[in-house]
Amino acid sequence: MRVIVAGGDGYLGWPQAMYLSRRDYEVCVVDNFCRRTWDIECGTDSLVPIWPLQERVAAWRERTGKTIDLAIGDLTDYGFISTLVRDFHPDAIVHYGEQRSAPFSMIDRRHAVLTQVNNVVGNLNLVYAIKETNPDIHLVKLGTMGEYGTPNIDIEEGFIEITHNGRTDTLPYPKQPGSFYHLSKVHDSHNIQFVCKIWGLRATDLNQGVVYGVETDETKLDERLATRFDYDGIWGTVLNRFCIEAAIGHPLTVHGKGGQTRGYLNIRDTMRCIELALEHPAKHGEYRVFNQFTE
Ligand SMILES: NC(=O)c1ccc[n+]([C@@H]2O[C@H](COP(=O)([O-])OP(=O)(O)OC[C@H]3O[C@@H](n4cnc5c(N)ncnc54)[C@H](O)[C@@H]3O)[C@@H](O)[C@H]2O)c1
Repeated sequence: MRVIVAGGDGYLGWPQAMYLSRRDYEVCVVDNFCRRTWDIECGTDSLVPIWPLQERVAAWRERTGKTIDLAIGDLTDYGFISTLVRDFHPDAIVHYGEQRSAPFSMIDRRHAVLTQVNNVVGNLNLVYAIKETNPDIHLVKLGTMGEYGTPNIDIEEGFIEITHNGRTDTLPYPKQPGSFYHLSKVHDSHNIQFVCKIWGLRATDLNQGVVYGVETDETKLDERLATRFDYDGIWGTVLNRFCIEAAIGHPLTVHGKGGQTRGYLNIRDTMRCIELALEHPAKHGEYRVFNQFTE
C-alpha cells in the first residue's frame, strides 16, 4: 500500500512513517518544517536532539535498506499538494500535518489565525486533492479527544442518538472545544464529514487522547531516528512534561485544580491505531470516527 504521511517530520508523523515503511508500506513523508520554525520563535526545543529530515531518511535507508520518499512543501499550497498526490498516487493519506498546540493558538490574534488557516486550509486542500486526483484514496485524519471538551456525560464515537419531542435521530456528538486549536480540529471534522457526504470520499477521523512516550521499535534503531521529546509549556504534552519534572525534582506543573480526567495513549498504540485504520479502510462515502485512548 502506498501512503503519504503529512506532517512526517513531527513527533508522531516521523515514527509513523518508519513504522509503516518497516511493514512494507511505500511511504512518502511531507513536511514544511513550520514546527521547527515555531520552536525558534518560542525559544523551545526537543529534549532529545532531532536530526534533519533528510538525514533521518538517509539513516533509515542505511539501517533497514528501505526507502522513505521525501516531499518538502506546505499543505496550504494547493499546487504543491495536488501535484504530489497525482505523482505519488497513494492509496491512503495519514494527516498529522497541523499546528497542534492549544497554548500556541491562544497567544494572540495572529497565532489564532495562523493555527486555523494552517489547519483548516491544509486539510481542505488535502480533501480537494483527493477528489480531483483519485476519490478512492482513504484519508486517515488525526483528530483529538479535545474536540469534545469535557461534557458531564459519556463521550460517544462521533455520534449520539438523541430523542427530542418524541422523535429520534443519530446526530453528531456536541463539540465543546477549549481553544482555537481544538476548534480548528472541529472545523476539519465538519469539512471531512461534509465531503464524504457530497463527494463520496472515505475518511477515518481518529480522535486520539494525549500521546505519551518517545520510544518505538524503530526510533530505538539509531539515535538519528529519534522522535522529538517536547517538555515545555507550549508543546510538551502533559505526561511527557511530568516525567521530566519528576526526573529533575521540579514540582509537577498541574493546571487548574488537578482533578481533571483525560484519556492517554502510548505512542506505540498510536502507530498501531493508524495501521488498523489503513488495513480496514472506510467505505466510499463513509465518514467514521474512532476515539482512541487507554483507560
Ligand atoms: N501529540 C499528541 O498528544 C496528539 C494527541 C492527539 C492528536 N494529535 C494530533 O496529531 C497530529 C500531529 O501531532 P504531533 O504531536 O506529531 O505534532 P508535531 O507538531 O510534532 O508535528 C506536526 C508536523 O506537521 C508539520 N506541519 C504543520 N503544518 C504543516 C503544513 N501546513 N504543511 C506541511 N507540514 C506541516 C509540522 O512541521 C510538524 O512537523 C496533530 O494534528 C495533532 O492534533 C496529537
